[in-house]
Amino acid sequence: MCGIVGVISDNAALKAFNGLRALEYRGYDSWGLAYPESGGIFVVKKIGQIGKAGTDFSKSAGIAMGHTRWATHGKVTEENAHPHSSMDKSIAIVHNGIVENYAELKSELVSKGYSFKSETDSEVIANLIQEKLKTEKTFEGAVRKALLELEGSYAIVAMRKGEEKLVCARDGSPLVLGVAENACFAASDATAFISETKKAIFLEDGTMAVLNKQLKVFETKTGAQLKAVPKELSWDFEQAQKGDYEHFMLKEIYEQPRLLKSAANQPKDKMEKFVSMLRFAQKIYFTGCGTSYHACISGAYMFSSIAKTQVMPVLASEFSLQENFVDENALVVAVSQSGETADLIEAINIAKGKGAKIAGIVNVMDSTVMRLSDATLLMNAGPEICVLSTKSYTMQLALMLLLASYVSGKEEEAKRLLSGLSTGAAKILESNSEKIKEIAKGLSRAKDIFVIGRKNAFPTALETALKIKEVSYIHAEGFAGAELKHGTIALIEEGTPAIVLSTSQTRKQVASNAIEMRSRGAKIIMVDSIPHPDFDFSILVPDFGEANPIALVLPMQLLAYYIALERKLDPDKPRNLAKSVTVK
Ligand code: G6P
Repeated sequence: MCGIVGVISDNAALKAFNGLRALEYRGYDSWGLAYPESGGIFVVKKIGQIGKAGTDFSKSAGIAMGHTRWATHGKVTEENAHPHSSMDKSIAIVHNGIVENYAELKSELVSKGYSFKSETDSEVIANLIQEKLKTEKTFEGAVRKALLELEGSYAIVAMRKGEEKLVCARDGSPLVLGVAENACFAASDATAFISETKKAIFLEDGTMAVLNKQLKVFETKTGAQLKAVPKELSWDFEQAQKGDYEHFMLKEIYEQPRLLKSAANQPKDKMEKFVSMLRFAQKIYFTGCGTSYHACISGAYMFSSIAKTQVMPVLASEFSLQENFVDENALVVAVSQSGETADLIEAINIAKGKGAKIAGIVNVMDSTVMRLSDATLLMNAGPEICVLSTKSYTMQLALMLLLASYVSGKEEEAKRLLSGLSTGAAKILESNSEKIKEIAKGLSRAKDIFVIGRKNAFPTALETALKIKEVSYIHAEGFAGAELKHGTIALIEEGTPAIVLSTSQTRKQVASNAIEMRSRGAKIIMVDSIPHPDFDFSILVPDFGEANPIALVLPMQLLAYYIALERKLDPDKPRNLAKSVTVK
């Protein structure tokens, strides 16, 4: 969602702009930049893509900040875009999060004579700081006093006319600081500054920082200075580049064979802790949103079949249904690429409130989900830049497979399976690529696409449909094969495309569902380890047993990608979607 960048460095405006470009993947509909100029603060705001903007910014600015906005409060307009200025234009702020008490704060400020230009909740922060400066001696003091009045969540960066410093703070929204020689940075995530430094300080909730040539961190409530030691980031700048690939989505799909090879390389102590929590829990919930939720369902199938252990997959946003049953004997496994998804964080807080233990499966180091978890395994997928999750999904599945196997003492089998799948995955992508392009041509004109699967291929059907919808904007629906006759079959007509995910375990039943659809005119795309010449198309995926959900999804990701290309859409920037959804 919204992305924030703050820079203290030479040529700061251009560096902040480049930081915004690196954050584009989070999803946004407008953007803006602020830096000191001619004794005041110069603010530029634009609707639409950053890529189309020129870069004729002042080279002399030593501080700058920027923001990509994904509209929540108020329409997509230049007025609503950040940075927001205080009424006297002496303060500019960028904000990510929601000020829940903004209406009360705004009317108080209006009664004191302040006027507002935007419909956003964020603008109150700028005017509140201006107001606090009447009684506070320092800029950081005024920011701190303003923050103490905010309810909700925030990550902010603020600058003041005539001061060569940035004041940043976080409470409930991500903010990470970067430390380099003669420069420092603040950003929603480290990809914004990884080209400049790999030394990062992950701010805690309820803390703030003052950035000038030095960097100091404070507790917001008391103003007491805190010790802040930078950590070395494990991700590289190159990993966040497209390289020779046309799109990040394609690059990330093709990274999967390599990643599967190393998926089992988890620190022994972390794995053991996680596994013992799984073994001792009386109730286990897997929870997440979107693609991560689909991994939760797949994981539940794996735990049932491999570990004979019951797991309840729960949509994080609907976790309240379980509220009365979660207690100190429960384990909640929170699954998230970003580790910042607001619905998931709320579910974790509900579970923690009931005394449950939390085990996180996350991709982003030091993310909020990781901090809230009693144990964490990292997906080690590297930066996932495309809004759509591909490699993080298969890494989630690989970890679930490993965990289920560890719980039942079959870890060596799982490691062998993943290593074989690593080679197999490259072949699946390579051998099906041309056929998938051809199928994508036909599907790109479809009104609806249906996807069915049974047993452990059922969550893969849900994930396939989600990938198609996200990237091609074609209506797609995934469901369990047997559910077809309970409603959806009414929608099948001459030429309706249906993708059938078949495995050796489910082949007979799912083929009969396919025949039911074909009898009503559907065009059937069979995905299976054996060819099906009696249907319209076959995509061949060797049988990987318990790892089938990983093997089957690979060509489906590629199919979604090529449908988007056929429709002349940018797969890396799907409309209306954000990579990291930090609002409920
Ligand atoms: C957003 C993304 C999805 C993702 C979901 C959960 O909606 O667009 O691709 O699956 O959030 O994200 P998480 O970071 O928690 O896995």
